[in-house]
Amino acid sequence: MKKEVIINYDLLRREELSEDILRLEEAAVEVAHRAYAPYSCFSVGAAVLLANGEIVVGSNQENAAYPSGMCAERTALYYAGAMYPDVAPLKLIIVAFNEKGRVPIIPPCGSCRQVIMESATRFAPFEILLAGDEEVVVLKDCRKLLPFAFSQENL
Ligand code: THU
Repeated sequence: MKKEVIINYDLLRREELSEDILRLEEAAVEVAHRAYAPYSCFSVGAAVLLANGEIVVGSNQENAAYPSGMCAERTALYYAGAMYPDVAPLKLIIVAFNEKGRVPIIPPCGSCRQVIMESATRFAPFEILLAGDEEVVVLKDCRKLLPFAFSQENL
């Protein structure tokens, strides 16, 4: 028996973004500019809109011992967990800049997808937005980022 996994997402043009999304994106861009990324020169910003209306942000934090660094998405989600442990994330937006400028789309790394999955099972599935200058990928259900994910249900 053959099976397949299909991932549905929306591709929006900048003009189609709501005021709320633009505000969230602005927070991600701002925090990306404060990233600590001296080794990769790749600055990532993530902003989480929480169910209480708060916006929590994170940027990548690198280290001379490379594996000790941390991605923007996990910084933001762990910050949200530390500040508001009982509040669900509703949206997570991610932006990135390399030495040439804004990166079109920034897909979260595998470890971040795993952490996003944990938040989805801890609270409820939320929306992920991968925001470039011109286009934005919108995944309504963040769990789609990690098919065959290991989660608490497998324990
Ligand atoms: N990075 C993130 O912050 N998020 C991702 O999902 C991909 C990668 C960071 C880690 C490292 O500081 C730099 O980007 C280059 O990999």
